[in-house]
Amino acid sequence: MAEALRNAGVVVTGAGGGIGAALARRFAEEGARVVVNDLDAAAAERVAAETGGTVVVGDASRVVAEAREALGGTIDIFCANAGIGTGGGPEAEDDVWLQAWDVNVMAHVRAARELLPEWLERGSGRFVATVSAAGLLTMVGAAPYSVTKHGALAFAEWLALTYRHRGIRVHAVCPQGVRTDMLRAAGAAGELVLAPTAIEPEDVAEAVFQGIADERFLILPHPEAGEYFTARAADTDRWIDSMNRLQQKLEHSG
Ligand SMILES: NC(=O)c1ccc[n+]([C@@H]2O[C@H](COP(=O)([O-])OP(=O)(O)OC[C@H]3O[C@@H](n4cnc5c(N)ncnc54)[C@H](O)[C@@H]3O)[C@@H](O)[C@H]2O)c1
Repeated sequence: MAEALRNAGVVVTGAGGGIGAALARRFAEEGARVVVNDLDAAAAERVAAETGGTVVVGDASRVVAEAREALGGTIDIFCANAGIGTGGGPEAEDDVWLQAWDVNVMAHVRAARELLPEWLERGSGRFVATVSAAGLLTMVGAAPYSVTKHGALAFAEWLALTYRHRGIRVHAVCPQGVRTDMLRAAGAAGELVLAPTAIEPEDVAEAVFQGIADERFLILPHPEAGEYFTARAADTDRWIDSMNRLQQKLEHSG
Protein backbone atom coordinates (compact mmCIF):
# COMPACT_ATOMS: atom_id res chain seq x y z
CA MET A 1 0.00 0.00 0.00
CA ALA A 2 2.85 2.38 0.87
CA GLU A 3 4.04 1.98 -2.72
CA ALA A 4 0.62 2.92 -4.07
CA LEU A 5 0.60 6.10 -1.98
CA ARG A 6 3.99 7.36 -3.04
CA ASN A 7 3.33 10.29 -5.33
CA ALA A 8 -0.45 9.77 -5.19
CA GLY A 9 -2.53 12.95 -5.55
CA VAL A 10 -4.58 13.34 -2.38
CA VAL A 11 -7.12 16.00 -1.37
CA VAL A 12 -8.20 16.47 2.25
CA THR A 13 -11.03 18.89 2.99
CA GLY A 14 -11.18 20.59 6.38
CA ALA A 15 -7.48 19.85 6.77
CA GLY A 16 -6.57 23.02 8.66
CA GLY A 17 -6.97 21.22 11.99
CA GLY A 18 -8.17 18.13 13.80
CA ILE A 19 -8.68 14.87 11.91
CA GLY A 20 -8.12 16.45 8.48
CA ALA A 21 -4.71 17.81 9.48
CA ALA A 22 -3.74 14.38 10.86
CA LEU A 23 -4.83 12.74 7.59
CA ALA A 24 -2.86 15.29 5.54
CA ARG A 25 0.28 14.74 7.64
CA ARG A 26 -0.04 10.98 7.42
CA PHE A 27 -0.55 10.95 3.64
CA ALA A 28 2.45 13.29 3.26
CA GLU A 29 4.58 10.96 5.41
CA GLU A 30 3.66 8.13 3.02
CA GLY A 31 4.98 10.20 0.12
CA ALA A 32 1.70 11.45 -1.31
CA ARG A 33 1.23 14.92 -2.80
CA VAL A 34 -1.40 16.56 -0.66
CA VAL A 35 -3.87 19.37 -1.26
CA VAL A 36 -4.84 20.95 2.04
CA ASN A 37 -8.30 22.53 1.89
CA ASP A 38 -9.93 24.61 4.61
CA LEU A 39 -12.13 27.67 5.01
CA ASP A 40 -9.50 28.96 7.41
CA ALA A 41 -6.64 30.12 5.18
CA ALA A 42 -4.07 30.57 7.96
CA ALA A 43 -4.75 27.10 9.38
CA ALA A 44 -4.49 25.53 5.92
CA GLU A 45 -1.22 27.37 5.26
CA ARG A 46 0.27 26.01 8.49
CA VAL A 47 -0.58 22.40 7.65
CA ALA A 48 0.54 22.79 4.04
CA ALA A 49 3.89 24.19 5.23
CA GLU A 50 4.37 21.14 7.47
CA THR A 51 3.40 18.65 4.79
CA GLY A 52 4.86 20.29 1.72
CA GLY A 53 1.30 20.40 0.41
CA THR A 54 -0.66 22.86 -1.69
CA VAL A 55 -3.37 25.02 -0.19
CA VAL A 56 -6.84 25.39 -1.64
CA VAL A 57 -8.79 27.84 0.51
CA GLY A 58 -12.57 27.79 0.47
CA ASP A 59 -15.65 25.70 0.91
CA ALA A 60 -15.20 21.93 0.73
CA SER A 61 -17.99 21.79 -1.85
CA ARG A 62 -15.95 23.65 -4.41
CA VAL A 63 -12.49 22.23 -4.19
CA VAL A 64 -12.18 19.57 -6.89
CA ALA A 65 -11.31 21.67 -9.96
CA GLU A 66 -8.61 23.73 -8.25
CA ALA A 67 -7.20 20.70 -6.44
CA ARG A 68 -7.05 18.68 -9.66
CA GLU A 69 -5.12 21.46 -11.34
CA ALA A 70 -2.72 21.70 -8.38
CA LEU A 71 -2.09 17.95 -8.63
CA GLY A 72 -1.31 18.04 -12.33
CA GLY A 73 -4.66 16.80 -13.58
CA THR A 74 -5.36 13.72 -11.44
CA ILE A 75 -6.87 13.16 -8.01
CA ASP A 76 -6.25 9.64 -6.72
CA ILE A 77 -7.75 9.93 -3.24
CA PHE A 78 -10.38 12.40 -2.06
CA CYS A 79 -10.95 12.73 1.69
CA ALA A 80 -14.34 14.38 2.30
CA ASN A 81 -13.48 15.28 5.87
CA ALA A 82 -14.79 18.80 6.54
CA GLY A 83 -17.79 18.72 8.82
CA ILE A 84 -19.68 20.82 11.32
CA GLY A 85 -20.99 19.66 14.68
CA THR A 86 -24.42 21.20 14.81
CA GLY A 87 -26.40 20.65 18.04
CA GLY A 88 -30.06 21.07 18.89
CA GLY A 89 -33.31 19.49 17.73
CA PRO A 90 -36.25 20.50 15.54
CA GLU A 91 -36.26 23.91 17.22
CA ALA A 92 -32.96 24.75 15.49
CA GLU A 93 -33.59 27.21 12.66
CA ASP A 94 -33.88 25.98 9.08
CA ASP A 95 -30.65 27.72 8.09
CA VAL A 96 -28.80 25.78 10.81
CA TRP A 97 -30.20 22.50 9.49
CA LEU A 98 -29.41 23.50 5.91
CA GLN A 99 -25.83 24.41 6.75
CA ALA A 100 -25.29 21.01 8.40
CA TRP A 101 -26.84 19.36 5.33
CA ASP A 102 -24.66 21.44 3.00
CA VAL A 103 -21.32 20.72 4.68
CA ASN A 104 -21.88 17.21 6.06
CA VAL A 105 -23.69 15.73 3.03
CA MET A 106 -23.86 17.93 -0.06
CA ALA A 107 -20.10 18.66 -0.08
CA HIS A 108 -19.61 14.88 -0.50
CA VAL A 109 -22.22 14.70 -3.25
CA ARG A 110 -20.78 17.65 -5.15
CA ALA A 111 -17.23 16.32 -4.89
CA ALA A 112 -18.30 12.88 -6.12
CA ARG A 113 -20.17 14.47 -9.03
CA GLU A 114 -16.96 16.12 -10.18
CA LEU A 115 -14.66 13.19 -9.43
CA LEU A 116 -16.64 10.32 -10.92
CA PRO A 117 -16.20 11.05 -14.65
CA GLU A 118 -12.37 11.03 -14.25
CA TRP A 119 -12.39 8.00 -11.95
CA LEU A 120 -14.80 5.93 -14.08
CA GLU A 121 -12.81 6.62 -17.20
CA ARG A 122 -9.60 5.59 -15.46
CA GLY A 123 -11.18 2.67 -13.58
CA SER A 124 -9.78 3.80 -10.23
CA GLY A 125 -10.27 6.34 -7.47
CA ARG A 126 -10.71 6.33 -3.71
CA PHE A 127 -13.30 8.33 -1.74
CA VAL A 128 -12.71 8.54 2.02
CA ALA A 129 -15.67 10.07 3.87
CA THR A 130 -15.15 11.18 7.45
CA VAL A 131 -18.59 10.36 8.78
CA SER A 132 -18.96 9.68 12.54
CA ALA A 133 -20.29 7.02 14.87
CA ALA A 134 -23.30 9.41 14.92
CA GLY A 135 -23.95 8.22 11.34
CA LEU A 136 -24.18 4.61 12.54
CA LEU A 137 -25.92 5.38 15.82
CA THR A 138 -27.07 8.84 17.05
CA MET A 139 -25.45 11.69 18.98
CA VAL A 140 -27.59 12.78 21.92
CA GLY A 141 -28.43 16.49 21.87
CA ALA A 142 -27.53 16.91 18.21
CA ALA A 143 -30.29 16.09 15.71
CA PRO A 144 -28.89 18.01 12.69
CA TYR A 145 -25.51 16.32 13.20
CA SER A 146 -26.99 12.82 13.62
CA VAL A 147 -29.35 13.14 10.65
CA THR A 148 -26.75 14.54 8.27
CA LYS A 149 -24.11 12.00 9.33
CA HIS A 150 -26.64 9.22 8.62
CA GLY A 151 -27.00 10.90 5.21
CA ALA A 152 -23.24 10.96 4.68
CA LEU A 153 -23.01 7.27 5.53
CA ALA A 154 -25.90 6.42 3.22
CA PHE A 155 -24.27 8.32 0.38
CA ALA A 156 -20.90 6.62 0.95
CA GLU A 157 -22.58 3.20 1.00
CA TRP A 158 -24.46 4.03 -2.18
CA LEU A 159 -21.23 5.09 -3.92
CA ALA A 160 -19.45 1.95 -2.74
CA LEU A 161 -22.09 -0.49 -3.95
CA THR A 162 -22.72 1.32 -7.23
CA TYR A 163 -19.12 1.61 -8.40
CA ARG A 164 -17.16 -1.18 -6.71
CA HIS A 165 -17.01 -3.25 -9.92
CA ARG A 166 -15.71 -0.19 -11.78
CA GLY A 167 -12.60 0.18 -9.64
CA ILE A 168 -13.80 2.85 -7.24
CA ARG A 169 -13.17 2.31 -3.55
CA VAL A 170 -15.08 4.05 -0.78
CA HIS A 171 -14.44 4.19 2.96
CA ALA A 172 -16.70 5.57 5.69
CA VAL A 173 -14.71 6.58 8.76
CA CYS A 174 -16.91 6.48 11.88
CA PRO A 175 -15.10 7.52 15.05
CA GLN A 176 -16.69 8.37 18.39
CA GLY A 177 -14.93 11.17 20.29
CA VAL A 178 -11.70 12.60 18.87
CA ARG A 179 -9.75 15.32 20.72
CA THR A 180 -10.21 18.24 18.32
CA ASP A 181 -11.78 21.70 18.38
CA MET A 182 -15.10 20.10 17.44
CA LEU A 183 -15.10 17.95 20.56
CA ARG A 184 -14.02 20.91 22.71
CA ALA A 185 -17.03 22.84 21.38
CA ALA A 186 -19.48 19.97 21.93
CA GLY A 187 -20.45 21.07 25.46
CA ALA A 188 -22.08 18.86 28.07
CA ALA A 189 -23.09 16.11 25.61
CA GLY A 190 -19.51 15.89 24.33
CA GLU A 191 -18.20 15.75 27.90
CA LEU A 192 -20.63 13.02 28.88
CA VAL A 193 -20.69 10.82 25.78
CA LEU A 194 -17.52 11.44 23.81
CA ALA A 195 -14.73 12.70 26.07
CA PRO A 196 -14.31 9.57 28.24
CA THR A 197 -13.24 7.40 25.31
CA ALA A 198 -11.83 10.13 23.06
CA ILE A 199 -8.78 9.33 20.95
CA GLU A 200 -6.25 11.52 19.13
CA PRO A 201 -6.65 12.62 15.48
CA GLU A 202 -3.50 10.62 14.70
CA ASP A 203 -5.28 7.46 15.90
CA VAL A 204 -8.01 8.13 13.34
CA ALA A 205 -5.40 8.60 10.61
CA GLU A 206 -3.82 5.28 11.59
CA ALA A 207 -7.22 3.55 11.45
CA VAL A 208 -7.81 5.04 8.00
CA PHE A 209 -4.51 3.63 6.78
CA GLN A 210 -5.34 0.19 8.18
CA GLY A 211 -8.79 0.38 6.62
CA ILE A 212 -7.36 1.29 3.23
CA ALA A 213 -4.79 -1.50 3.45
CA ASP A 214 -7.55 -3.99 4.31
CA GLU A 215 -9.93 -2.51 1.70
CA ARG A 216 -12.65 -2.16 4.34
CA PHE A 217 -15.65 0.10 3.70
CA LEU A 218 -16.45 0.75 7.35
CA ILE A 219 -13.50 2.13 9.32
CA LEU A 220 -14.11 2.11 13.08
CA PRO A 221 -11.33 3.81 15.07
CA HIS A 222 -13.39 2.88 18.17
CA PRO A 223 -14.13 -0.83 17.58
CA GLU A 224 -16.92 -0.75 20.19
CA ALA A 225 -18.96 1.40 17.78
CA GLY A 226 -19.36 -1.76 15.68
CA GLU A 227 -20.73 -3.62 18.70
CA TYR A 228 -23.22 -0.81 19.38
CA PHE A 229 -24.25 -0.86 15.72
CA THR A 230 -24.94 -4.59 15.94
CA ALA A 231 -26.83 -4.20 19.23
CA ARG A 232 -28.94 -1.40 17.76
CA ALA A 233 -29.89 -3.56 14.75
CA ALA A 234 -30.58 -6.66 16.85
CA ASP A 235 -32.89 -4.99 19.40
CA THR A 236 -33.68 -1.42 18.42
CA ASP A 237 -36.10 -0.70 21.27
CA ARG A 238 -33.58 -1.84 23.84
CA TRP A 239 -31.00 0.38 22.14
CA ILE A 240 -33.34 3.39 22.28
CA ASP A 241 -33.98 2.69 25.99
CA SER A 242 -30.25 2.76 26.70
CA MET A 243 -29.74 5.96 24.69
CA ASN A 244 -32.71 7.53 26.47
CA ARG A 245 -31.01 6.81 29.80
CA LEU A 246 -28.00 8.69 28.46
CA GLN A 247 -30.30 11.56 27.45
CA GLN A 248 -31.76 11.67 30.97
CA LYS A 249 -28.26 11.67 32.45
CA LEU A 250 -27.42 14.60 30.19
CA GLU A 251 -30.51 16.50 31.39
CA HIS A 252 -29.51 15.95 35.02
CA SER A 253 -25.90 16.97 34.42
CA GLY A 254 -26.79 20.54 33.41
N1 LIG B 1 -13.98 15.35 16.83
C1 LIG B 1 -14.83 14.35 16.94
O1 LIG B 1 -15.14 13.90 18.06
C2 LIG B 1 -15.40 13.70 15.70
C3 LIG B 1 -16.01 12.44 15.85
C4 LIG B 1 -16.56 11.84 14.73
C5 LIG B 1 -16.49 12.44 13.50
N2 LIG B 1 -15.90 13.66 13.39
C6 LIG B 1 -15.88 14.27 12.06
O2 LIG B 1 -14.55 14.49 11.66
C7 LIG B 1 -14.49 15.55 10.71
C8 LIG B 1 -13.41 16.51 11.12
O3 LIG B 1 -13.77 17.04 12.38
P1 LIG B 1 -12.70 17.54 13.48
O4 LIG B 1 -13.12 16.93 14.75
O5 LIG B 1 -11.33 17.37 12.96
O6 LIG B 1 -13.18 19.05 13.52
P2 LIG B 1 -12.34 20.43 13.62
O7 LIG B 1 -13.40 21.41 13.91
O8 LIG B 1 -11.20 20.28 14.53
O9 LIG B 1 -11.79 20.60 12.14
C9 LIG B 1 -12.66 20.81 11.06
C10 LIG B 1 -11.97 21.67 10.05
O10 LIG B 1 -12.87 21.79 8.95
C11 LIG B 1 -12.89 23.16 8.54
N3 LIG B 1 -14.16 23.40 7.87
C12 LIG B 1 -15.40 23.53 8.42
N4 LIG B 1 -16.31 23.73 7.47
C13 LIG B 1 -15.65 23.72 6.27
C14 LIG B 1 -16.06 23.86 4.93
N5 LIG B 1 -17.34 24.07 4.61
N6 LIG B 1 -15.11 23.78 3.96
C15 LIG B 1 -13.80 23.59 4.27
N7 LIG B 1 -13.36 23.46 5.54
C16 LIG B 1 -14.28 23.51 6.53
C17 LIG B 1 -12.70 23.97 9.82
O11 LIG B 1 -12.22 25.27 9.53
C18 LIG B 1 -11.69 23.10 10.57
O12 LIG B 1 -10.34 23.45 10.28
C19 LIG B 1 -15.89 16.14 10.67
O13 LIG B 1 -16.59 15.67 9.54
C20 LIG B 1 -16.53 15.63 11.94
O14 LIG B 1 -17.92 15.56 11.86
C21 LIG B 1 -15.34 14.31 14.46
